[in-house]
Amino acid sequence: MNILYEEIDEKEIELCRELCNELMIFQKSKAYIKPELFDDMSFETRLLPSLQSAIHNYTVIVKDSNENEIVAYVYANISPKETYSNDFATFFDMESVKKSNVGCLSQFYIKEGYRDAGIGSRLFSKSMEWLNRFKDVEDYFIYVSNGNHNALEFYQRKGFYVSHQILDGFITVLRNKQQIKGREGDIK
Ligand SMILES: CC(C)(COP(=O)(O)OP(=O)(O)OC[C@H]1O[C@@H](n2cnc3c(N)ncnc32)[C@H](O)[C@@H]1OP(=O)(O)O)[C@@H](O)C(=O)NCCC(=O)NCCS
Repeated sequence: MNILYEEIDEKEIELCRELCNELMIFQKSKAYIKPELFDDMSFETRLLPSLQSAIHNYTVIVKDSNENEIVAYVYANISPKETYSNDFATFFDMESVKKSNVGCLSQFYIKEGYRDAGIGSRLFSKSMEWLNRFKDVEDYFIYVSNGNHNALEFYQRKGFYVSHQILDGFITVLRNKQQIKGREGDIK
């Protein structure tokens, strides 16, 4: 294994097509609630639209130069918070975010055979460093589909908190800040 990390430009996003589609298949294989929702999810319907609606995008690919192949990628972005209230779902309570924009660790995939070797931790740190550059963004989100306990635990070990579930448990929403319930039961 000779692992190289490379930040890529939006124009090169095509490089992530195969692994993005593999991520959707992976998530479907883990899901026990509405797995069929993944049938419409792909590079075309997920990654490209996210890239276009975001204000800033950050993508890192990981190459194994011995095999001459891309073995992992992470995609993070900064978007207006309203992006997360759409026909598909309202991902979080808009009132719980004071600033206009939010950060999101949007897609994350390490190919089988390359997991548990520290690559995910490195990509996670790089993404957080990138998000931290935007001083006016305080809230970061990660959305984990049902059945993916490994990823859920990974993000919690990295300091994220489970906030709530949406779409009848199809997605668990994680945040960088723990949400404290107010007296009226509102999420603050
Ligand atoms: C979840 C995922 C991104 C984690 O990435 P990863 O590369 O496997 O994660 P890491 O190797 O950095 O860390 C996992 C564990 O491996 C071990 N590890 C870390 N560095 C290591 C190293 N250098 N050598 C051996 N083991 C190591 C640790 O036990 C670590 O646990 P920790 O988080 O307590 O440190 C990856 O498993 C994955 O892509 N899964 C499939 C797709 C997926 O679920 N994506 C997320 C969608 S929300």
